[in-house]
This record gives sequence, structure tokens and C-alpha cells, in this order.
Amino acid sequence: MQLLPSSDSEVMYMDSSGRVTRPNVIFPLLIILQSCLYTVEGVWPLPQTFIPSSEQYRLSPQAFYFGYGRQSAVQPGCSVLDSAFKRYFSLVFPDFTSAYGALRFSVDKPFTVEVSVDHDDCEGYPNEDSSERYNLSVSTGHASLNAETVWGALRGLETFSQLVYQDDYGSYFVNKTVIEDFPRFQFRAILLDTSRHYLPVQTILKTLDAMAYSKFNVFHWHIVDDPSFPYQSRSFPDLSSKGAFHPMTHIYTQSDVRRVISHARLRGIRILPEFDSPGHTKSWGKGQPDLLTPCYKGSVPSGTFGPVNPALPSTYQFMKGLFKEVSSVFPDSYIHLGGDEVDFSCWRSNPDVRAFMQKMGFGGDFTKLEAYYMENIVNITSSLNKTSIVWQDVFDYHEKIPKDTVLQIWKGTPAKYKEELSRITKAGMRVLLAAPWYINHISYGQDWRNSYTVQPQNFSGTDEQKKLVIGGEVCMWGEYVDATNLTPRLWPRASAAAERLWSDEKQTSSVDKAFPRLQDFRCKLLRRGIQAEPLYVGHCKHEYQGI
Ligand SMILES: *[C@@H]1O[C@H](CO)[C@@H](O)[C@H](O)[C@H]1NC(C)=O
Repeated sequence: MQLLPSSDSEVMYMDSSGRVTRPNVIFPLLIILQSCLYTVEGVWPLPQTFIPSSEQYRLSPQAFYFGYGRQSAVQPGCSVLDSAFKRYFSLVFPDFTSAYGALRFSVDKPFTVEVSVDHDDCEGYPNEDSSERYNLSVSTGHASLNAETVWGALRGLETFSQLVYQDDYGSYFVNKTVIEDFPRFQFRAILLDTSRHYLPVQTILKTLDAMAYSKFNVFHWHIVDDPSFPYQSRSFPDLSSKGAFHPMTHIYTQSDVRRVISHARLRGIRILPEFDSPGHTKSWGKGQPDLLTPCYKGSVPSGTFGPVNPALPSTYQFMKGLFKEVSSVFPDSYIHLGGDEVDFSCWRSNPDVRAFMQKMGFGGDFTKLEAYYMENIVNITSSLNKTSIVWQDVFDYHEKIPKDTVLQIWKGTPAKYKEELSRITKAGMRVLLAAPWYINHISYGQDWRNSYTVQPQNFSGTDEQKKLVIGGEVCMWGEYVDATNLTPRLWPRASAAAERLWSDEKQTSSVDKAFPRLQDFRCKLLRRGIQAEPLYVGHCKHEYQGI
């Protein structure tokens, strides 16, 4: 038998009688394929119930379809699922481009992923009560994905895409599988800081893509802070024209913000905007005169400014205007109001602030002044029908904060934050845990292991108290981070926290068992164009190709 060159690049053979044949290549190839299949490490984060099987089906991109189930409450035209089907087709078949038709020896039996959803929420936004539950069952020629909401269907599509694998010849396979899945915590967030460094919109969109791969569902946008004010406000345009690093190039216009919100929505991600005050507001002062407190040296102003001035009625007028705008621009029902790290020295130096304290009967207690300020801000957002999230500091001096406020725990060692979780939940307040996930801090070695072993409900308290932990947040503060290093610093390290927040606690108790699956997931991220850093020695079948 002789190998002949062929015109259409398919392999042809000449048999002993000289006849040219196109043999049935499928059978012998399958035998070779079986022996060199890559081991499949599974899905990240680990589904709640996962029944794998060694029964495998070959998938062909030319005969693969996503479709809507007949009983589904949503049908073609649903923006969230229509666009997800397009995205996930490319994610399922990463090197297929219809231009050249990929490999030709296809089995060509159609495979359909049929998606059914109970509620039509296609044009809405995901919210805190949105169900992300889904059931996925893969069998011969067919997968059914059932979910209560389109947001759950998105999570299921992500899982399906991770079940598909390729052999050494590039053929695609999926195994028979049954999955029932739902998140352990309702709030699974990543914080990006766009004040210390400006992050281009593209970088934010790419981060949202990667968040969806790890099933994160909240983007906490720490959009402004001391160094810069990049949010371009409709009502107060001077805030960014004077407070941004550059008034034209280093800002987020209203259309940029809409783009981020829409990109996130299509991936089932909520946007939690943070406008942190009264501290962390130096950049606000440039575009809003009289907002910040003038600090004094003896009896004269020193020329420097401190936190927002809580003694002036004009401050609250301005905040009403700003938060009215922010409430209408950002659709989520939560707003983050900050409230952390307020330095009292400037307030203390200012005679007008001191006089105000006297008038209000606060004596010399500046925590009372801070509580007064935060109460006013929380009331503004409540009147706009928004729920507030604040940093834990606010609870330290203001235990009577409205009961629906969420406290975000960011300080201290495990012993310290557990104590805080215990104390705040005892008061019946909901909490969000961030302290163990400040992954802008880096160290030599596999520090993802620390993120992975965090136990958010492991503190002293009743079951009722533990239910008050709404979830967790990975924080990527921006002092040393911009678009050059954000992605490798974030991924796959943030994915460790993602599994802790999504998956069952007992099934994910072993870091060593998680390791190969996370390594495999990191390779998937590379394959999807996310420049995720390596966890340790090893290789990916498809190494990062650069730009
Ligand atoms: C899928 O099936 C193949 C072939 O039987 C097997 O080698 C592989 O381990 C299976 N993968 C999973 C995740 O079960």
C-alpha cells in the first residue's frame, strides 16, 4: 500500500491492484485516538453533583447546534442566550473557523445542546435573588440543559464548554455526563480598582469574560479614589475633567459604562459601583470646590485637604445629585458607599468642623461625626431604593446602621476577621468576606492554596449567623497593577476563590486534589486567550501564543 499525494489534502491509498481508494479511516484512527487521549481533569469550579462516564461522543463543529427546548419560556430572539450560543460555539471548538472547515473525517451525526429556561428574564439584569441553578445531561447526540433563569443557563453553558476536550489530532469529544449544580454563595465578586491606575475598557471587558469562565457573578467597580476620578458624570463633568489622570483619554464616558454593564449582563454578571467617601476622595476635590475639608495648621488653613466636609449642607446636596445619577446609570440594586479608613486629624484641625460637632452634641468624638455622615449617605441611597454595602469600618463606630446594609470584611488575619464575622453577624447584619482574598498581594510559591483553604462560615456563631455570609470577594487593588499585569496576577489565582464560593465545601476540602484540575483549567484559560500565569512546573498542550 502506497501513500499518494492528493489534491484535496485528504489521505488516499493505492491498493495492490492499483485502485485508488479512500479508505474508511475512522475505525483505525479511533483505535489510535483512544490510546493517546488527554486525561480530562473536569470542570472548574467543581459542580455540586457530577456523574462522569467513560462513554464518549465525538463532536463535529459542522454538525453541532445550540437550540431552545420546546417547553422553554424563552425562544430565539432572547438576547442573553442568542449571544451566549455564538460565544460558546467558539469556546467549545477553539480552533474551528468555518473558513477552512477544520478536520474532515467527521461522523456528521448532529449533536444538539437543547436549552430550556423556566422564566423569561432575557431583557432583565441579574440580581441578588437570581437563581443560577442548572441541570445538564449529556447523552448520545444530545445534551439537555435546564435552568430556572437564563443566568443559570449561562452557568450550564460554561460547564458544557469545559466538558469538551480534544485529542492529539484535534478531534472534539464529550463524555456522557449528568450534572446538577448551583452556587454555594449568592455573591461571588471581583474588585478592580480603576483609580490608582486607569484600566482601558477592553481590559475590563476581558476580565468580565474570564470572570464568567470561573462563574464569578459580581464585578465590584472601585471606580474612583484619591489618585483619580475617571467616571465622567453627567451632572458634575468637572469631577473627571479635573480629577481624572487625563480628561479625555483616562475616563469612562457614559457610553463606556453602558458597554461594561451590557457586556456584564450578557454574562450574568452584576456591576456593583463604589463611590467611596468620606475618605479616599482627594481626586473629587479637584472638580468640586468646598467638598473636602480644609485642614488647618494652628489657626490658618494649611492648603491641604482632608476627607469630605461633613459639616456643610452643600456636601449633602452634592451627594444627593451624584448618587441620584449613579443610581440611574447602574441598574443593580446595590451601591457600595465605602466608608473606610477615615483620618480624623484634618477634621480635628478645622475650627468649623469643631463648631459643628459642638452644635450637634458630638463632644470630641469624631466617630460620631463619621457615623452622622455615613447615615446621611445611606439615607440618600435608601431613598433611591438602593441597598448599601460599606466597608467593615462603618460598623465599628456605627452599630445602628440600617439592618439591610451589608458589611464588607477586609481587615486582618484569619483570627481577626473570624472574630469580626462573628461580632457583626451576631448583630444580625449581613457580611461579605474579602479579607483573605486581597490577591493584589503576591508572594513566592503557590499562594492560591491559601485562597482555596479559606472557610467563610468557619467562625463561632449560630447557623442563622452563618447564613448572613452572602459570599466573598477577590480584591485586586491597583497600586502596582495596570493593564500590563492585571490578567496574570488575577488568573488563575482568583479561580481558587471562585471554587471556594461556588462548590460544595466537603467535596473541595483537598487542595492537592484541586491542583491538577486547576492546572488544567489554567490551560483552558490560555486557550481562550486569557494570559493566566502558571501555578507551578508543567506544560499546557497549547501554550500561550502572545498577541
Ligand atoms: C471520557 O472517556 C474516555 C474514554 O472512555 C476516558 O478515557 C476519560 O477518562 C473520560 N473522561 C471523564 C472525565 O470521565
